[in-house]
Order: sequence, then C-alpha cells, then structure tokens
Amino acid sequence: MKTKKAICAILPFLFLSASILAQDDTQWNTKADSILSLMTLDEKVGQLNMLTGNWEATGPVLTDINKAESLKQGRIGSMLNVKGSKNTRELQSLALQSRLGIPVLFGQDVIHGYKTIFPIPLAQAASFDPEVIGRAARVSARESAVSGIHWVFSPMLDVSRDPRWGRVMEGPGEDPFLASAIAKAMIEGYQTPFDDGLSVMACAKHFAAYSGAIGGRDYNTVDVSLQTLHNLYLPPFKVAAECGIASFMSAFNEINGIPATAHPYIYNLLYKDWNFDGIVVSDWGAIREMVVHGYSKDRKQATEQAFNTGITIDMESNCYSNYLKELVEEGRVTEATLDRAVKQVLIWKMKLGLFDDPYKYCDEKREGEEILSAASRETARDVARKSIILLENKNAILPIVNMPRDIAVIGSLANSKRDMDGNWVSLSNESIAVTLLEALKQRYPASNITFIAGYSTSADDRSGFGEAIEAARKADLTLIALGETWNMSGEARSKGDINIPSIQQELATEIYEVTPHAVTLIMGGRPTIFNELSEKSPAILYCWWLGTEAGNAILDVVTGEYNPSARVPMSFPKHLGQIPVYYNHKNTGRPPVESDRNYSGRYIDMDHKPRYPFGFGLSYSEFEYTNFQTEVKPGRLVVSLNLTNTGLYDGAELVQVYVRKLWGPSTRPVKELKGFRQVFLKKGTSQSVQIEIPFSDLSYYEADGWSDAEGDYKVFIGRNATDIIFEAPLTLSGCKGL
Ligand code: BGC
Repeated sequence: MKTKKAICAILPFLFLSASILAQDDTQWNTKADSILSLMTLDEKVGQLNMLTGNWEATGPVLTDINKAESLKQGRIGSMLNVKGSKNTRELQSLALQSRLGIPVLFGQDVIHGYKTIFPIPLAQAASFDPEVIGRAARVSARESAVSGIHWVFSPMLDVSRDPRWGRVMEGPGEDPFLASAIAKAMIEGYQTPFDDGLSVMACAKHFAAYSGAIGGRDYNTVDVSLQTLHNLYLPPFKVAAECGIASFMSAFNEINGIPATAHPYIYNLLYKDWNFDGIVVSDWGAIREMVVHGYSKDRKQATEQAFNTGITIDMESNCYSNYLKELVEEGRVTEATLDRAVKQVLIWKMKLGLFDDPYKYCDEKREGEEILSAASRETARDVARKSIILLENKNAILPIVNMPRDIAVIGSLANSKRDMDGNWVSLSNESIAVTLLEALKQRYPASNITFIAGYSTSADDRSGFGEAIEAARKADLTLIALGETWNMSGEARSKGDINIPSIQQELATEIYEVTPHAVTLIMGGRPTIFNELSEKSPAILYCWWLGTEAGNAILDVVTGEYNPSARVPMSFPKHLGQIPVYYNHKNTGRPPVESDRNYSGRYIDMDHKPRYPFGFGLSYSEFEYTNFQTEVKPGRLVVSLNLTNTGLYDGAELVQVYVRKLWGPSTRPVKELKGFRQVFLKKGTSQSVQIEIPFSDLSYYEADGWSDAEGDYKVFIGRNATDIIFEAPLTLSGCKGL
C-alpha cells in the first residue's frame, strides 16, 4: 500500500517540469509511467470515470457532496457540464486534494459556439467553406479554453440522409467528402494550440453510423452493409484520426446487432488500421445501456465488453467505477490494458499543461475580457451570412438594395432570440442573439417597421392572420419568418413530419396573394418541406438557426451586402414518402423514368426527385463555365475550367466536381462529390480554376475491400448534383495500388 507521505515526496518532481509542452511523446510516456507506478487500482479506475456537474440545472456542483467527495478521493478523472473559470477552479481544487493531486479534465458540448453562438453545424456545412468553418471552431476553442474547458465534444461527424432525425442539425449533411473536409477544418481549428499555450481537445462523434437510425428515430437500430459503413459513415472519422484528434465518442446505436459502444469491428479499425492512440469516451450512459439493448447480461458484463473493446472513459454510467476494479482482480480485464487507458488520460492532461498548472484555464479576468469579443461576433456574422441559402428569387426581387420605408415583419421567429441560437447551446445563458427585427430597427431607424407575430408556434391559432395580412398589404416590403423553434430539432427531437407547420404555410401563402414584395425566411435545424411556398414565394432564404448574429447576417444577405454563396448540404425532400432521398444513390437496374410508370423505379403517386438537390443554391449573380478539361497527372486527376462572373454583383460560386465510376466489382453511386471550391469573382471578371483529385480519393470499399483508382469514369462539373454543365469520360489505368 502506497503511503501519502511517499507520494508527496515525488509530486514536486511531477509539477515542476515547466517545459513539459515542449517534450516529445517519449517523455510524456515516461512521465505517465512514473505517475502510474504511484497509483492504486481505485485511482486508476477514477481516471476513467466521467461525471456531469449538473451545472445547467443545479448550479455549482459543490452542493453535491458525493461528487465533491469523489473528486477529493481521486475517483473522478473528468467532468462535463461545469463551466466558467470560477466553477472549474473550485472543482479543480477538490481534485487537487486527492492523494496524488491529479487534475481533472473538463469537457463540454461546444457544438456551435461557447458563448458566441455560430450557425448550427448543418448550416455551417452549407457554406461549403472549410476555412470559414475552421475559423468558427477556433473562436469556440478559445472561448471554451478561457472558460475552464479543456475538451470540446465536437465535431459531430454523422453523415445523414434522413432529415427526420433531429440530430442532423449537429452534423455535416449527407456527403462523406464534404464531411471529411469539415472534420479536418474543425479539428485544426479546435486543436491548434494558442500562443499563450492554451489548447483544447476535440472529440469526433458519434462513432459510428448513429445517423443510420431506422426511420430517423433517435437511438434507433442501425443495420448497415460494410460497404455503406466504409463509404458513407466512416470517411470523416478516418480523417479525424489522421488529423491527430485527441478523442472519439462512441454512439448510442447498435450496428448490425452489436452496440457501437462495444463493437469490435469499428474499434479494430480505429486502433489498428487508423493507428489512433487517443481517448475514446462513451456517450452518456451508453455502457449501462448495453444491458437495455439486450447485448450485455448485466452492467458488469457491459463494463468488461466496453472496456476490452476500447472505451477509455465511461461517461455518466458509473459502470467503470463500480466494476472495473473487480474485473481486473478477476483477471477479466488485464492491468496492462487498464494502464494503457489511464496513461492516455494522463498524457492528454500533460499535453494540456494541467500537470504544470492545473488552474491554467481558470483565469476569470481573461475570461471576462475575451468572451463575446467584437472580433468573435464579427466572425459569427461572417459565418452566418455564408450559411444562408438563396433557394428562390423569382423576378430577382432580391437583393433589396434600397430599403423601402414601410416594412412589415411577420412571424414570431423574426423576434425570438432563443430561437436564433437553436439547439445545443447552454440553457443557462440568456440568449443575446440579434433577431431580424432588432437588426432591422437598428439599421433603418427612420423606417416604419410593423411587426406582427401572425401565427403561433405552439397552438393552431389564426387570430393574428388578419392583422398580418393587412400589414403586408400596406408595406413596400414584407419579411416573413417561418420555421422551427429551437427545440424542434436536436437530440431526441426526431420528427415524423418535417413539413413547415401548415398554419405558417397558410399565412405565408395568403400574404403572397396581397403583395408581390414578400421575402420568406425559413429557420430551423433540418431540411424541411414547404412545396407551396417554393412555388408561390417571390423569394426564399433558408436561414437555419444562425446564432448570435442571426439578424444582422440575414439583413446582410437581404440587402445584398453579402451575395449568398451557400449550397444545400443535405437534399430537401419534396414529400415525406421520399425519405431518404439523397444525391449519391446507386443507379439500380431500373432507374426511375419519368414517363414510364411500369417497371421503372419511380413512385406512381409522387416525384422521386428532391425539391432542392445537394449542392443547390442561387446567387444574385450568374457564373459562366468554359474550357473544361481533365488531365491525369502523377497520383492525381486535375480538373480545370474557366469561370466568369457574368452577373451584376460581385460574388462567390461553388465549383463542384463529381465522378461516377461506370462499372466494377461493386456498383457505385451515380455521382460522388470529389472536389469543390468557393471562388470569389468581382462582376465581369474571370478566373481559371483547377481542382485536384488524388487517386486515393477515388478509392471505394467494394465487395472485397478497398479498390484502387483504376477504371472507367465520367467526370462532371455541376452547379449542383443534378444540374450538370460539363461531363467527360475518363479511363484511369496504371494507377494500381494508389
Ligand atoms: C449526446 C452527446 C453529448 C453527450 C454529453 C449525449 O446525450 O449524444 O453528443 O456529447 O450527451 O452531453
């Protein structure tokens, strides 16, 4: 039994190593080994136990005696839902009272911002702009770090084809290539250390295939082929591992009969094929839920299965703290495996600098100075306007360059701060988001702005219709805000009906009848259905939940101060019955033929095509594509073209390159996005654009494993996945093994 006295004699050596950040991995290992050698079994298990601070609901967790005591006994290695320098400092001081004084890690769901709230991740994906997405992650990382947070539970990388699933709002949309680019940008944004030595760990979640939930119902069963797993769900996770992400989080779902939290296949890939050597945290309670799944006999077995498969930290199950020691003593978990897991946790604590200064992230003054800075808000506004998609602009009614005097603003969402933030923001923060109404009043103080809520988001109440229609009739411009309130998408917010509520659609269509000067702004956390609005609305901007700067960003786009550049990151269905509808489907032996009801793969009662396909989005300008060429160079395909802005406004065009492999040992999607670039052009100017596609990006998991790039292809340049401007045949040979 190690005595307190003996340990204290060694501790100064551990804490006085000021240059620890500069040390290489061997030195981290040596240090971690020296700490490990001092630890009891209980203390080791403690490092793998993560508990919530119940911060949102109950205030400082110090009132929770058990957790405070557990911290003092070294039985908690990490916590979530404890925020702010002051509170994390308080809890850290408890952990430091434990026998070895190992600091605790604080994690948090920083999904689209900490205090400065950015557009929801799906909206950010619509920007198709990894640089901008990376900047948002950077601000979030900084705000988190100065608030005592060491670990953000982001990026969420669940590629999804089902907009009924409420969590699509947190993810990168339907395409694995776009998702991979986003993964890289976010991880670099989060994890690159700041000049003053602060840095945060990122977490790729949810590993894996969580978004394949049958029927789009959260937590539901996932039954997926190996090909779909590798080609659709896993690519962004593989990129995350390649980028050196610090951690992964397991998914709640099962995959083909085995809970993802203990799925040998995916953890073999992660640890062996992808050489990941960071931390894997379970999702909240996911280890004990393996019993509910009907996979584990009891919690003890669940612990053994999860731990031996590769889950390093148990979030909020208490399974590791209750059973892991016993399992080691019984030899069902080896101490060597336990040590490896504990070492990972210790090493990350060292990398974050916590062994040098456990309070390094807890400086209240710095927190006060840096949070919600003007620069962060400016970034939020830029990301927000780059996330807004122009879906309709009949007769080019947008942009409104000269704002008229009489403006009607209709719809409660135009004046709801909380709804601008969307889901997955801290509930303890009172929203400071700028609404559309506030932004308008601020920018046009001399205008006559009439705001009428018009519809209710909670009741079937049409009593505001008359007033709203009257206001629209009188106004020179009507802005109609429709859509979802913040709690209609998100975790456990799956919906069977994703139509914009009919009461809202009715009001909007009545307004279109009295004025041609109506702009519809749709807010929400997922692609929604609104066919009548698409047909009748003079203009539609899809505004998602845009965060702190929502109102200002919307106005930037409405007025043309920013020319919209975002594109659909996830197909918008026309009908519920089409779901899942996505662009990268297979051809089948009998593809749908519009004119042929018999024996073609179409519906007899509705269109099979989406309302707005992947990659779709309008601009206030027009762009002409010429001189399309493909060239095969060593190790890569180079696609080039000339792009000219032929319209009246400066603006950015998203150049999209798709390929189709025509035949092979495994069928391939009709199109696969393999390259994209936002190109900004002043009106009347041209630029030559080159997009390189490494052969490795053409690889596909086929019936017998990964293919190389050899084969017959078509290469497409499109304005979106269905509007193709150029296509060319291509045969790649001599690139085996690449
Ligand atoms: C979610 C995770 C989240 C965790 C901690 C779970 O319910 O699935 O995404 O990180 O809670 O809040």
